[in-house]
Amino acid sequence: MSFYVTTPIYYVNAEPHLGHAYTSIAADILARHHRQRGEDVFFLTGTDEHGEPVADAALQAGVTPRELGDRYAPRFRDLLASLNATNDFFIRTTDPEHEAAVQEILQRVHDNGYVHKGIYEGWYCTRCADFKTESEIGPDNTCLIHFIPLIREKEENWFFELSRFQEPLERLYAERDDFVLPRTRANEAQSFIAQGLQDVSLTRQSLKWGVPVPWDESQVFYVWFDALLNYVTALTYAREGEDLTNTFWPASFQLIGKDILKFHCVYWPALLLAAGYELPEHLFVHGFLLMDDKKMSKSLGNVLDPFGVIDRFGADALRFYCFREVPFGQDGSISPAGFETRYETELANDFGNLASRTLAMLDRYRDGTVPQADPDPALATDFDSLAARVTELLDRAELTAALEEIWERVRRLNRYVEERAPWQLAKDPGAAGELDQTLYSLAEGLRVLTLLLHPYMPEATGKLLAALGQTELELAAAEFGARPGGAATTALEPLFPKR
Ligand code: MSP
Repeated sequence: MSFYVTTPIYYVNAEPHLGHAYTSIAADILARHHRQRGEDVFFLTGTDEHGEPVADAALQAGVTPRELGDRYAPRFRDLLASLNATNDFFIRTTDPEHEAAVQEILQRVHDNGYVHKGIYEGWYCTRCADFKTESEIGPDNTCLIHFIPLIREKEENWFFELSRFQEPLERLYAERDDFVLPRTRANEAQSFIAQGLQDVSLTRQSLKWGVPVPWDESQVFYVWFDALLNYVTALTYAREGEDLTNTFWPASFQLIGKDILKFHCVYWPALLLAAGYELPEHLFVHGFLLMDDKKMSKSLGNVLDPFGVIDRFGADALRFYCFREVPFGQDGSISPAGFETRYETELANDFGNLASRTLAMLDRYRDGTVPQADPDPALATDFDSLAARVTELLDRAELTAALEEIWERVRRLNRYVEERAPWQLAKDPGAAGELDQTLYSLAEGLRVLTLLLHPYMPEATGKLLAALGQTELELAAAEFGARPGGAATTALEPLFPKR
């Protein structure tokens, strides 16, 4: 079984912010989960370095676009490392291998008869690098995403014949109701298609910063076609001397934000069909993280610095918070105050205390060895099919719903401690068997939760698993009662210390 997950590639026009960290964390959670299932996983992310978004920012900064890329691409890499992201490759669209592959693939699209020359005239957003259609134009010809004036463009371009994919795309959405998730986003894509697809510029004449068009050196490829193709070009050179295309294409999950839905849910499948590739299994469209009810973005100046949050609270806490606070797929507000509250009540108290208490009781009452006992049937029912349920949700990239399933059991284990009051049982020599069962069940419950939480919080769960005397990370082991007693446990510093 193979599993291929991608993030959008990030523009190298400014420092990364939490909105960028968000998609990378989501992809990492899925990648780690599928590794736990024993699958052959490939996780791709990287940077988008061509087009106006980068050329304009470079001009403003007084450097060349390449210099700007060289400045910011390492910052995106740093962010991935700070997040504990396990990406298998980091693509830069200025990689010569990518550029050559883009030329080759788009030449094929041309040779397959999907390209013609024409005049483009219309409204363009230089920040989105987007030719806007009627319904995407705001009051006074402004961009609905960036609130900046659109530019009137008129130039001779080569066009990609998107209109010829009207019927195939309609069929695609009718036949595959999980091609785009959540379902509401598929509806958005379908209504865009229903308005009637128009051919779209494949190349640019006025812009110089891009991949040259092999059949017309006076033009460069429009940045979105160059960028989208990263998902397939990376596979051809990510591992030296190997072409991974057959192993990993079609992608299993491509994660994107809702602002780039049109490119991924309309242009991308059409482009793949025109070039003769299979279509990805799923595109998942997530919402925006908002601050003060506005989209977090550099241009609006309301960004939360992920490096600062990680320094103070750790990567695990950030990874947890993003998917706990805002249902994945929807928009939602985040705030430093909300972050601190969740950190204290859920991470430090609900989970951290549960772990420390359980290990301390194992140490105090059973000399740091998980007792041999039968799992408590009262808990067994509550853990029944948990791993299967989490798996089912993650198969649809429902990261928040899966986390909630797990967290319900965190709360259940806390109640169990209170119900059984092991400290009382320990006072009664006649209750030794009951205490064994309680401690065994707590250790087992905690072990299962640790395995399931691992993709979300790799650091803390790694420590906890070791303290529980366990080494096995496989998801198959995440069944309550699957491990016998006997493991040697050790005490643990608080996993989420007070800040
Ligand atoms: N370069 C293009 C993508 C090309 S993919 C072939 C691009 N880059 S971006 O840097 O502007 O945005 C990358 C991703 O970050 C998008 O999916 C976008 O939705 C996401 N986010 C940027 N700000 C965000 C929030 N405030 N919240 C959540 N995600 C956001 O678009």
